[in-house]
Amino acid sequence: MKVDLKAIEDAHLAPTYQKFPVTIVRGRGAKVWDDEGKEYIDCVAGYGAALVGHCNPRVVEAIKRQCEKLIACHGSLYNDARAEYLDKLVKVLPKGLTKVYFCNSGAEAVEAAIKIAWKATGKRVIVSMMRGYHGKTLGALTLTWGQKYREPFEPLPSFSRFVPYGNVDRLREALKDDVAAVIVEPIQGESGVIVPPNDYLKQVREECTQRGVLLIIDEVQTGFGRTGRLWACEHWGVEPDIMCLAKGVAGGLPMGVTAAREDVMSKLKVGEHTTTFGGNPLACAAASATLDSILLDGLLENCRTVGNYMLSELQKLKRDFKVVRDVRGMGFMLAVELRSDIRGALLSLISEGVLAAYSGRTVIRFLPPLCMSMNEAHVVLRALRKVLSNVEL
Ligand SMILES: Cc1ncc(COP(=O)(O)O)c(C=O)c1O
Repeated sequence: MKVDLKAIEDAHLAPTYQKFPVTIVRGRGAKVWDDEGKEYIDCVAGYGAALVGHCNPRVVEAIKRQCEKLIACHGSLYNDARAEYLDKLVKVLPKGLTKVYFCNSGAEAVEAAIKIAWKATGKRVIVSMMRGYHGKTLGALTLTWGQKYREPFEPLPSFSRFVPYGNVDRLREALKDDVAAVIVEPIQGESGVIVPPNDYLKQVREECTQRGVLLIIDEVQTGFGRTGRLWACEHWGVEPDIMCLAKGVAGGLPMGVTAAREDVMSKLKVGEHTTTFGGNPLACAAASATLDSILLDGLLENCRTVGNYMLSELQKLKRDFKVVRDVRGMGFMLAVELRSDIRGALLSLISEGVLAAYSGRTVIRFLPPLCMSMNEAHVVLRALRKVLSNVEL
């Protein structure tokens, strides 16, 4: 008798994920397969974690090698895999970011950034953006805008001050003497793939510098090539004081990174912020291989070429389908906003062999692995056209 895998998850998992009726058992590159052998182009990609492709050969090889050598090594001892990755990473981080704290997720990377900023400035307020998303642990949640995430857990700590994303005048007003840092996503991911006005990030940088406020750029979703450059902040020539990274950093293994300027990070003292798995050798070996793949396998170029093509084809949907309100994005962080709820469209895409993600109730988000080919992009575009032609307004 076949085991009902979905029923087991439904029975025993905390009910916090909005589920889709597919059981994925295998992946390779931009494709995954379900337990009945059906193939999908994966534009969810672990919500961005399968950045360099499912079971990327470099990552698989690195994990195999490392897991036969050493899996656990606490940060209080030195480790070769950790040192090798650090050396590689700091060479490509934005200028000035020479110190790194390792953790296990995006929210944890944000938690560390909060404590680093508090310690470095002695101040407590963090200015955050309306519609911004930084995770769901309590500190990160305090900086996250979405009321549906916040309300059930109020009262939350009171150190956040929200301003409208893209509005420098309102930011300037909020930068009072009590502000430690500003936290901003270069492109807002969870709230609909919102690309800010062109000079916005640069102006945020200037305001922070003028007021002596730290700039935290949250590249958890945009980092490591997702937008066609290694760091999204490069598109606007901006360098943060602190940067948060996670999702695709270790080829799909759980890992987060908070990078900071030396003078900022050095204010943290021994014992003030640690985590058991931070800098885990297996994750570091996978992260090394992931970075190699991004830099040596032409993934940034592929993301730009196929991403630009997809964006231009998606733009045509606005002309061809009344239900399409807007199309936007950069690289392989793309969104199609409908005039209606997208759940039906996501389910129809699954039937057509394409997995895509929510980005708010009305926005279909595409976050494929950076290796998705032009042919695979064509499959996605064809499926989407078919699905949209059946969506009623
Ligand atoms: C910009 C940003 N920051 C932080 C997070 C939280 O990361 P995690 O889900 O790994 O805790 C996310 C997750 O989507 C994100 O997009």
